[in-house]
Amino acid sequence: MSQPSVTIVEVGCRDGLQNEKTIIASDRKIALIGLLADAGLTRIEATAFVSPKWVPQMADHDEVMRNAPRRPGLVLSALVPNEEGAAAAIAAGAQELAVFASASETFAQKNTNCTIAQSIERFRPVMALAAVHGLPVRGYVSCAIDCPYEGAIEPEAVRNVSERLIGIGCGEVAVADTIGRASPERVDRMLADVTRGIAASHLACHFHDTSGQALANIDVALAFGIRIFDSAVGGLGGCPYAPGAAGNVATEAVVAHLTRLGYDTGIDTGKLAHARALALRLKTGAGSCD
Ligand code: HMG
Ligand code: MG
Repeated sequence: MSQPSVTIVEVGCRDGLQNEKTIIASDRKIALIGLLADAGLTRIEATAFVSPKWVPQMADHDEVMRNAPRRPGLVLSALVPNEEGAAAAIAAGAQELAVFASASETFAQKNTNCTIAQSIERFRPVMALAAVHGLPVRGYVSCAIDCPYEGAIEPEAVRNVSERLIGIGCGEVAVADTIGRASPERVDRMLADVTRGIAASHLACHFHDTSGQALANIDVALAFGIRIFDSAVGGLGGCPYAPGAAGNVATEAVVAHLTRLGYDTGIDTGKLAHARALALRLKTGAGSCD
């Protein structure tokens, strides 16, 4: 009998490197994407076409997306906040777009300088552009558990924003524990509500791992039938507008955990170790430019 499969979305090159203190050289980022592709990752969020004033670490988005390795079966995606970012990402060769909303009004303001409702309106032209180019769009919902400014967020608010993202045409919604404080009980409560409105096949989970609960939280999501998980090689990560956000759960830990549970991730752990080694060098600044 064949093993059930799980898809891992590698977000280290974006969510990880956006948060590094030093600016990482573009060729190092491109090398990391290459090693991740070699390891068998098929969905890699390569960079973010956001304002360089807001996130200087992603200012080389054009260079990275244009020169990132292309492989059959590999989808390189770009995080975009608006039409300007979407147009630039598509011109640079992005194969998927990711828009990002929040279940917390304060975080929406801090991260994107607009209300939740305004962010959804900003995404409409992004969806239209993506449709013209035949690209899939994923939608993130930040603060699906806690907001760094507002504290606990009600599951209903998460479902509401998730449904709006699906309503404007996102094929997948990634519910995100932005500051990594989720417990399995709270993930269970949140997903019980969200899956009332959205089928598990359209959901992904994005866990940061501040409390060391991310793998247990993934187990809860698996029980809901969710089969798409975000992670960052080497546990890179954080959000510059979410104080206290630690790294994303490490890709190598997720692969080991899912393999133990009997899932096929399609990832070669030996090759993933090479990507991890580079990620850790970048994290400590050894591979970055001055
Ligand atoms: P704003 O300042 O309100 O934007 O920022 P604006 O529309 O008023 O434009 C001001 C200037 O920004 C203009 O330039 C625009 O051209 C430029 P100027 O005329 O002053 O020279 N601009 C852009 N430049 C490049 N690319 C663009 C772009 N858009 C406008 N796309 C904006 C609003 C949304 C742009 C800004 O707030 C922003 O870029 N925010 C991004 C913040 C961010 O990247 N946060 C981290 C990623 S989200 C995350 O990590 C959470 C996640 O991992 C899930 C989770 O864990 O929760 C996804
Ligand atoms: Mg994140």
